[in-house]
Amino acid sequence: MTEPKRVLLGILLATGVGWLLLVWMPLRKLGPASAADGGAPFGRAVIGGKVYAANGCASCHTQVVRPPNLGSDIARGWGARRTLPTEYREEHLVPLGVLRLGPDLANVGERRTEPYWYYRLLYDPRTIYPGTLMPSYRYLFARVPLLGTPLPDSLSLSGRDAPPLGFQVVPGPKARGLVAYLLSLKRVPPGETGKTP
Ligand code: HEC
Repeated sequence: MTEPKRVLLGILLATGVGWLLLVWMPLRKLGPASAADGGAPFGRAVIGGKVYAANGCASCHTQVVRPPNLGSDIARGWGARRTLPTEYREEHLVPLGVLRLGPDLANVGERRTEPYWYYRLLYDPRTIYPGTLMPSYRYLFARVPLLGTPLPDSLSLSGRDAPPLGFQVVPGPKARGLVAYLLSLKRVPPGETGKTP
C-alpha cells in the first residue's frame, strides 16, 4: 500500500470508529421519544415550539425544575421532581429560559389542561391575572365573520374586547400550535412521583 493510501485509510478508520462510538451507539441507546412518555413534542406542537421561541416567552419563563436543595420549585407545584437532561432529547430549540418573571412551564401541560384557558390567557392575560406583567398576544388570533353559530373555540369576549356585530375572534394557526405545545409540556412522565435521581 502506498503512503497516501495508508493515510487515507487511517483517516477513514479514525472518523468511522469515532462516529460509531460517539454518535451511532448513544443514539441507538436513547431510542425514539414520544410525547406520551414525556419526550419531545411532535406535530402541531413542534410548530408551537417555534412560536414560543419567536415570541420571547423564554425571556420570562423557564422550563427547568430545580432539585429541592436548590430552590422551592417542587414545593410550588412546578413538577413532582427535578427535570433531567434526557427530557430535552430530540428538541431542536431548548427553551430553558433566561429569567423567571413568570412561573416555570416545564410541566404546565400537567397542571393546566384546558385549551380554552390558554387562549384566554394569550389573548388577554389580565382577564386571568389582573395587573400581570405578561403581555397580550392578540396578533396570534383572527377576527372572522360569524356565520350562524360561533366556532367551537371562538372566544367569548365582552365590553371593549367584543368584536363588532357579525364577527368572532378565533385562535389563528400560530395560537393553536402554541397551545398544543404548552399542553404537551409534561416533562415528568405521568405516574412518576417525587423521586430525585
Ligand atoms: C414580560 C414577561 C412575560 C412574557 C414575555 C410572557 N409571560 Fe407568561 N406569564 C408571566 C407572568 C408574570 C405570569 C404569572 C401571572 C401573574 O401572576 O402575573 C405568566 C403566566 C403564564 C402562564 C400560566 C402559568 C401557570 O402556572 O399557571 C402561562 C401558560 C404563560 N404565562 C405562557 C406564556 C407564553 C406562551 C408566552 C409567550 C407567548 C409568555 N407567557 C410570555 C410573564 C410573562
